[in-house]
Amino acid sequence: MCGIVAYVGNKNVWPLLVEGLKRLEYRGYDSAGLAVVTPGGLKIARTVGRVSVLEAHVEQAAAGAYDAHLGIAHTRWATHGPPTEANAHPHTGKTKSGHTIALVHNGIIENYATLKKYLTEKGHVFTSQTDTEVLAKLTAELYDGDLERAVQAALREVTGAYAIAVVCDNEPHTLVCARKGSPLIVGIAEKSYIVASDASAIVSHTTQVITLDDYQVVKLCAGPNDRLATGDAAGGPWAVEFKTTTIDNVRVTRDVQELEFDLQQIELGGYRHFMLKEIMEQPESIRNCLRGRIDLRESRVVLGGLGKYTRELVRASRFLLVGQGTAFHAARIGEYLMEDLAKIPARAEYASEFRYRNPIIEDGTVAVAVSQSGETADTLAALREAKERGALAVGAVNVVGSSIARETDAGVYLHVGPEIGVASTKAFVGQVAVLTLLALYIGKRRYLSDDVIRNYLAHLERLPEHVANVLKQSNHIRECVERHVHRENWLFLGRGYNYPVALEGALKLKEISYIHAEGMPAAEMKHGPIALIDEGMPVVFVAPQGSQYDKVMSNIEEVRARGGKVIAVATEGDTKIHKYADAVFTVPDVPEALQPLVTVIPLQLVAYHAAVLRGHDVDKPRNLAKSVTVE
Ligand code: M6R
Repeated sequence: MCGIVAYVGNKNVWPLLVEGLKRLEYRGYDSAGLAVVTPGGLKIARTVGRVSVLEAHVEQAAAGAYDAHLGIAHTRWATHGPPTEANAHPHTGKTKSGHTIALVHNGIIENYATLKKYLTEKGHVFTSQTDTEVLAKLTAELYDGDLERAVQAALREVTGAYAIAVVCDNEPHTLVCARKGSPLIVGIAEKSYIVASDASAIVSHTTQVITLDDYQVVKLCAGPNDRLATGDAAGGPWAVEFKTTTIDNVRVTRDVQELEFDLQQIELGGYRHFMLKEIMEQPESIRNCLRGRIDLRESRVVLGGLGKYTRELVRASRFLLVGQGTAFHAARIGEYLMEDLAKIPARAEYASEFRYRNPIIEDGTVAVAVSQSGETADTLAALREAKERGALAVGAVNVVGSSIARETDAGVYLHVGPEIGVASTKAFVGQVAVLTLLALYIGKRRYLSDDVIRNYLAHLERLPEHVANVLKQSNHIRECVERHVHRENWLFLGRGYNYPVALEGALKLKEISYIHAEGMPAAEMKHGPIALIDEGMPVVFVAPQGSQYDKVMSNIEEVRARGGKVIAVATEGDTKIHKYADAVFTVPDVPEALQPLVTVIPLQLVAYHAAVLRGHDVDKPRNLAKSVTVE
């Protein structure tokens, strides 16, 4: 998804902007650009492709051409108009006084067509197909010498979602930013401010941040002391100041917070890809997720974030779990967990479907938003919808302080650390672990005996060790994948708790290897998809021991009879399955409700190795964004 970096302060801005954009590359983009306010005026560079192309472009310019103390930068993921230089951000507008406004934007301006018509009539000439250019020109149209006021006025006219950073060549020490529905964080560093849409671009500069709520604007000023006061005089020690308001110009105060993660967590640390690093570090991320939450002696789960809502959770009439993509698959497992362990009716839904179908929310409904980023637009909107209709809003979110985290009544953070790989891996396991803890937390207060809880908790405590053992099979998995990676169609099948795992396995494979893959309940195969099976087609069965094992074995035979190549995820010690499968990846024997936490691990490695073997850039899969903050 698009990324924003902006800076005002005592250092030369463009290297900082480029470094920040590089840290956001993992989010997905197709063009990049920056604008800096130099003593000679506004200087803009925009290029198609990687940030390194933009960097080379700036480096090749005349020495010092881009040197400045104020600037904004952007990586664009095309929505309105293709990825071209003209559509890349920043976009600009000319003020009536002849000054230039430059603006970068994440989000979507829904009423851009009406505004564009109005601005065209006013004489503005558009050079791109983007909705963002409308906002830049509207700000310019409303500018009367005060950038903050112009931004506020422009934002009062737009509908949609935005995170923006704006500069004007008439105000060389002022950066104005605002947000509604798209994330934006302001880092407070020494003698400077660095703003970004994602903490990973800030953390090398500072861990002191403020976040903005929807419809809030921040004016950040940095410059020699007396320049700040007068706007143009030179000299004096460097000073910084910031002011937060609403778009209606009401002053608001924002607390300075401490960012939770450090630079090391977002660096590769010797791994070839972030995805591999995040897969391999799962024993540690699971440990972090479970830390302090399992009390084996008392047979209880400790979830401080649920606090005063325990009663409502235990008495809930229904659980509604919403998410998208991988988070939706975790939600589907949550559905099984809630009914199985907590004995409360539950349904998982795509957030994007839930929000638009006039849903009925009965009394006592608990809505759980499952999200790594906490910024997925559909999930946030579904949560709001459920809340408005009376549901208690609970979050299972990774990013601390994200929009979803802030809008829920209660929640449980995943605490798996920043996830950089576009393909979600450790966050999925964190989501499932948190939903398992939630189901046990409620189950204990309903029907589950202490002995049953203790058994689950003892297995959960050993989960990091279990996962570490599964990960040791990485080479074996790669060798198997090597034999099948040329096949363009794969099936992933599972039953019960392992049906959503099959869905997740298929999603992982398609998103990074571009192999077409379908996941489905194993029994569903006979109702149509079996027609696809031909000689050599890889069919991955998630088939650990459990209540449905025999049924899955029959499905395996059906595939074999049609020439399909069976790849099985099975329980350690299952000798029978080896006779039927071309390859077997083993997982430890854990209770059925905990199986997804281990059965998904080999599937993550299948996807990873397939993508690498096919020569794809695993961390920057085509067309994909790390978090989808627009509809
Ligand atoms: O940040 P979220 O968990 O809300 O993101 C939801 C999906 O966009 C995300 O899981 C997506 O499907 C990933 N690419 C999966 O690997």
